[in-house]
Amino acid sequence: MTRILGIETSCDETSAAVLEGSGNDVVQRSLVILSQDIHKVFGGVVPEIASRAHLTAIVPVVERALLEADVPSDGSGASANLEAFDAIAVTNAPGLVGALLVGMSYGKALAFANGIPVIGVHHMEGHLFSASLEHPDAVPPFTALLVSGGHTLLLDVPEWGSYRLLGATRDDAAGEAFDKVAKLLGLPYPGGPHVERLAREGESGRYRFTRPMLRSDQRPGDPDYYDMSFSGLKTAVLNAARGADSDSDRASIARAFQDSLVETLVEKTWRAAREYGRKRVVLGGGVAGNRTLVNALRERVAEGGAEVYAPSTRLAADNAAMIARAGLYRFEQGERSAAALNAYASAPIPGLVAA
Ligand code: KG4
Ligand code: ZN
Repeated sequence: MTRILGIETSCDETSAAVLEGSGNDVVQRSLVILSQDIHKVFGGVVPEIASRAHLTAIVPVVERALLEADVPSDGSGASANLEAFDAIAVTNAPGLVGALLVGMSYGKALAFANGIPVIGVHHMEGHLFSASLEHPDAVPPFTALLVSGGHTLLLDVPEWGSYRLLGATRDDAAGEAFDKVAKLLGLPYPGGPHVERLAREGESGRYRFTRPMLRSDQRPGDPDYYDMSFSGLKTAVLNAARGADSDSDRASIARAFQDSLVETLVEKTWRAAREYGRKRVVLGGGVAGNRTLVNALRERVAEGGAEVYAPSTRLAADNAAMIARAGLYRFEQGERSAAALNAYASAPIPGLVAA
């Protein structure tokens, strides 16, 4: 049995979690997520403010996660005693470097002080593991769609640690498209949940945007068979929004935008599951909290007898439980990070194999 502390500070959530287990049999003992609401005032994440807020929050957030996990301690104060832990997993890429540095440095220091190893975790590999925390069957082999504010990745996953990158967005990430469209429609940041809510009141078919990079004559092997693009869709929304003069227009635009984006994501994911004969499709990233996407995907892949696994809203968004989970896998593989572990704004997901 491995007991691991996870730390996540890549963007605007300060999070810590404790997990225990081995292989795919892992139990979440605690999860604390502190969201930095301050960014709402600016309509987006301000990196310098994010770093400072992490600095203020990191110690109490980690202590709280340790306390809630109820791990035996010598009573000398939670973070002073990590003897019962085997390792600490920290997100070290990708993300805002200043924000990553806070969690990573704290994790490294804590590991060093307690004589246990630290393991740097790739944030997107964390997202890949999040559904498995709630669904025991959300384990490889599967097709994965990772849709967050910064990334949109379509992967085939024959086993943990082995990732075939099939497609990605060529411009805006899916979450980024939601956030930008929210701004165009006068909705607050982060926009995804607001656009989803407004779309529910929209009239289907009032507006229609073309499905970006989706055509029926695309064949496996074509460069755009799996790739995605959402910046053109955003421009189409901008033009429609200029001519909109009522709340009902705006709701129908939100609906048409979401329909278009969802259909593209669903079709590309369905193609990947069919090509690789996968019976499981796993979703991850903040946009995986979108019920319209999950339900549409579920309906589409059910025709091929495949099951869709999506994390709950709390675990779909940024959290340390998924980082601890990916770190636990890496720990069991014998991986340890050196004391020189650094933070990076971008980095390829580890374990990429040729498609
Ligand atoms: O994974 P995440 O929490 O952070 C990153 O790693 O980027 O994803 C955040 C993104 C934001 O763009 C947010 O608007 C989007 O996820 N999001 C949603 C929904 N909930 C969050 N997008 C669409 N529908 C939602 N319900
Ligand atoms: Zn994320």
